[in-house]
Amino acid sequence: MKSNEAAITVSLDEPIGRINPNIYGHFAEHLGHCIYEGIWVGEDSPIPNTDGIRNDVVEALKRISPPVVRWPGGCFADDYHWEDGVGPREDRPRTVNAHWGQVIDTNEFGTHEFIEFCRRIGAAPYLCGNVGSGTPREMRDWAEYCNYPGDSTRARQRAANGHPEPFRIKYWGVGNENWGCGGNFDPEDYAVEYRRFSTFLFNYKDAPLYLIACGPSGNNAEWTRKFFEKMGRRRRIQAFAAHYYCGTAGTAIEFSEDEWYRLLHRASLMENLVVQQRTIMDEYDPERKIGLIVDEWGTWHPATPGREARFLWQQNTLRDALVAALTLDIFNRHADKVVMANIAQTINVLQAMILTDGEKMLTTPTYHVYGMYAPHQNARSVRIAIEAEAVEFKGAGDSRAFLNMEGMISMTGSASVKDNKLFLTIVNMHLVRPLETTIELKDGEAKSASARVLTHFNTNAHNTFEYPNVIAPTEESVSASGKKFHHTFPPASVTAMSIELT
Ligand code: AHR
Repeated sequence: MKSNEAAITVSLDEPIGRINPNIYGHFAEHLGHCIYEGIWVGEDSPIPNTDGIRNDVVEALKRISPPVVRWPGGCFADDYHWEDGVGPREDRPRTVNAHWGQVIDTNEFGTHEFIEFCRRIGAAPYLCGNVGSGTPREMRDWAEYCNYPGDSTRARQRAANGHPEPFRIKYWGVGNENWGCGGNFDPEDYAVEYRRFSTFLFNYKDAPLYLIACGPSGNNAEWTRKFFEKMGRRRRIQAFAAHYYCGTAGTAIEFSEDEWYRLLHRASLMENLVVQQRTIMDEYDPERKIGLIVDEWGTWHPATPGREARFLWQQNTLRDALVAALTLDIFNRHADKVVMANIAQTINVLQAMILTDGEKMLTTPTYHVYGMYAPHQNARSVRIAIEAEAVEFKGAGDSRAFLNMEGMISMTGSASVKDNKLFLTIVNMHLVRPLETTIELKDGEAKSASARVLTHFNTNAHNTFEYPNVIAPTEESVSASGKKFHHTFPPASVTAMSIELT
């Protein structure tokens, strides 16, 4: 195969599993301007809002079909006391956001406001409970407050606060990063805490809980083994959630060619995490009842000059879009195990979908990837094989074993089928080489196809408040018919191809 060529084989007869829409999930923490200014501006704000929630942000998020949002943290979760965020807003305490700049949190945005935000964007709420500084009773009461349908004091409190009907919240995280900011536990100690907390999280009528345990930092096998070992058989756990940030190379908007590849390579190591973690989980859960989640992931660039470092505000370029795309492709290819993933974070923090500045708002290249990839949600993931040249770059042979690779394949992707349509998403990571590609369908034939492409001649292209549409997907025609056809994928691009099958 020549260096400018590639081959994709899609095996329509080899299903992997249904792609859980929750793989396209989000994460919104009380951090910097994610919640305050990003989602919540308050009823009296001149920024157009409905009951305090920004209208522009809601409309933009609705367009990418967000299935689930995790809240209130992050590290914030294990220092959050839910009762601070319910009841008349003027009576809510002013608490210190100790992790993120020690700023005051007015608690104006609490449980009801979050659930209302989720309802407006069409997402399921995922509440992360406080294990580190909270008690089983506090978390138990939160679940009762949200879900109990009868006439308890907590249910009355919910009704008095405006919601007589139970919220029926399904997803509950039992702590966050409990190996670190969530209490600095050893895996065994956390397993004991997990068992204790989960014992008191009751399933009320019509509201069975889906409990999520804190998984490892990155691909830490020891945490996973020791946690499951200690958990033994006395366990009530639906999913186990790792965190993996691929970090940075260069800065958010300034990077060399090597740094472009280095970051994409680090992002691609998500595959190692998923493969190794699911393999370990299989030892303890051979029936594969427990799902694997990655409920924080994304790029983490150096602090942006002129911004408060603890607010984690960063720009988002074409390179971040490729990170998002290749990561979502990894999750799609493991649709039989990965049940949810939550990119960090929704607005104004880390690899955001949306950036706001006062009344201005822009959508990022990463947002566009989520829009382009939405048809994968609920489709059947099918096997895809890709042959393409490897790219080599300096820094691959990093002394840390985790990064010790010679190079990486220049193309990656995933495929799914729904309603007699094949949906193919492909990332060409090569900076300058278009890849002339043969696409072969096994057990199927193409009738017609169309594509949306995200690319730019500037690899650090990004949207600004002055120029919010520098980078956005464009429509491209594809000539596809039969079992084999050809298509050229532009360099540094993400392509979403919809193929009508005969
Ligand atoms: O997303 C920012 C922070 O990263 C979260 O609060 C924490 O869980 C992780 O370390």
